[in-house]
Amino acid sequence: ANVHHYKFRIKEASFTKLCETKNILTVNGQFPGPTLRLRQGDTILVDVYNRAQENITVHWHGVKQPRYPWSDGPEFVTQCPIRPGTKFTQRIVLSDEIGSLWWHAHSEWSRATVHGLLIVYPNRGVNYPFPQPHAEVPLVLGEWWKTDIKEVFSEFLRRGADPIVSDAFLINGQPGDFYNCSKPDTFNLEVDQGKTYLVRMVNAAMNNILFFGIANHKITVVGSDGAYTKPLKRDHIAISPGQTIDFLLEANQEPNHYYIGANVFGTPPRTTTTAILKYRGNYTQFSPPIFPNNLPIFNDTNASFNFTKSLKSLASKEHPINVPKGNSNKKMTKLFFTLSVNTIPCENNNCDLGPQNGTLRLKASVNNISFVNPPKFNILEAYYNNINGVYGDNFPSKPPFKYNYTGDNLPLELWTPELGTEVKVIEYDSEVELVFQSTSLLGGIDHPMHLHGYSFYVVGLGLGTYNASEAKYYNLDDPPLVNTITVPRRGWAAIRFKANNPGVWFMHCHFERHVSWGMGMAFIIKDGKLPEQKMLPPPKDMPLC
Ligand code: C2O
Ligand code: CU
Repeated sequence: ANVHHYKFRIKEASFTKLCETKNILTVNGQFPGPTLRLRQGDTILVDVYNRAQENITVHWHGVKQPRYPWSDGPEFVTQCPIRPGTKFTQRIVLSDEIGSLWWHAHSEWSRATVHGLLIVYPNRGVNYPFPQPHAEVPLVLGEWWKTDIKEVFSEFLRRGADPIVSDAFLINGQPGDFYNCSKPDTFNLEVDQGKTYLVRMVNAAMNNILFFGIANHKITVVGSDGAYTKPLKRDHIAISPGQTIDFLLEANQEPNHYYIGANVFGTPPRTTTTAILKYRGNYTQFSPPIFPNNLPIFNDTNASFNFTKSLKSLASKEHPINVPKGNSNKKMTKLFFTLSVNTIPCENNNCDLGPQNGTLRLKASVNNISFVNPPKFNILEAYYNNINGVYGDNFPSKPPFKYNYTGDNLPLELWTPELGTEVKVIEYDSEVELVFQSTSLLGGIDHPMHLHGYSFYVVGLGLGTYNASEAKYYNLDDPPLVNTITVPRRGWAAIRFKANNPGVWFMHCHFERHVSWGMGMAFIIKDGKLPEQKMLPPPKDMPLC
């Protein structure tokens, strides 16, 4: 395993899109940010220099950071922000991650422009479990506001309602042919007929699941979230914020120009974001390029649900899985978390929501607790140094009362969540089963739930209200191993993991508006008894609070 050094200079740079120019926060002036290429088990040392006017932290999404949460990044959970003019060196040790992951800022809404891919290759001499591709193509899906992102964020907080709608989604930084002033910059993917390409894709958009497809071409998914999957051949796929998908693209059509398209799912339709698949060579090109003819539309719940449900672990001899199945001497820790969007009264009646305009603001919660960052310190350092008063350890294992979570008449007590900074403490090496239940409060919506420090097996996924008999139908043979699971609207997901990575680990919805409203919590996984089961000490240069 090798050690790689990187310098991340967080600084402003000016970019022009949709006929307008603005300054955005970047790493080294690049947008999307640099792609890091590593091998399994490598170590990365990243010097993060904050040369901007605002606080920042950087998170390594999907990297487990064994026994070392100090480099994980979520502000006020595992560290205090890196202040302007200061530097923090993050040490990231890879373990079993393979394929595409990504990194992104984890302070307020700065991840909108501070993000990039992190690709982990098999070790030298080790092949992919699929045909060797001729080339690989990084594909970063993003989201763009013409307005400064800090303004979008502060307006969003004031309004207490949904943020202003973004102006475009992006493929590798470009909105595509159907947006003003964008056509000359549309991303072109050039291919040779007869060759196969490995596309490494992340959805780095802030608030939306996206449908993605390529005209006349199939997509063969071979990996997701840093683990291999069984090959899954589709006309189109759905990808949630936070998720990474590796797929093979066979350039097996007539040489020509074909649109690559991304459409929003779950919120009102928007203009399709496009890139172009261009075959090399001489031919008369279609004008305009062929459009994907069956890209699902914004309310096609089945298309999204079916795709998520079809993903399976490779689970081969070379790539075995290890699903917790309960062992005789210890009971499995069972957790049941409801996910809701709620409302609370608006303090000075200047919100944009409520019957009299301005009387309510939106919040979101897990088990009816809306997560609040500790204002001046962080949970990890408070835990490690035994500092009281920063967080509570009473996060409930189940919702405060039972009800029909996906029914139409929800109990009134649900509407107003409690605000709090509560963690759930788990003993080292426990087997954990966690059921996420998406409630129908305010209509209900999908939630891409992400856990730091772990990958987990998705053993069950369904619509409606979870009931204990679902366990009979769990997939324990080849459940996907992921770090983000899209819990369907008015549905549930059951996940399992073994709590063998001690530390403080954030768990939250990867829709930025939802986590800002409080749809998150943190786990504290305790140290084990042996020295190699304990958290490592912090680095000397942890940012000061
Ligand atoms: Cu990619 Cu806590 O997030
Ligand atoms: Cu959510």
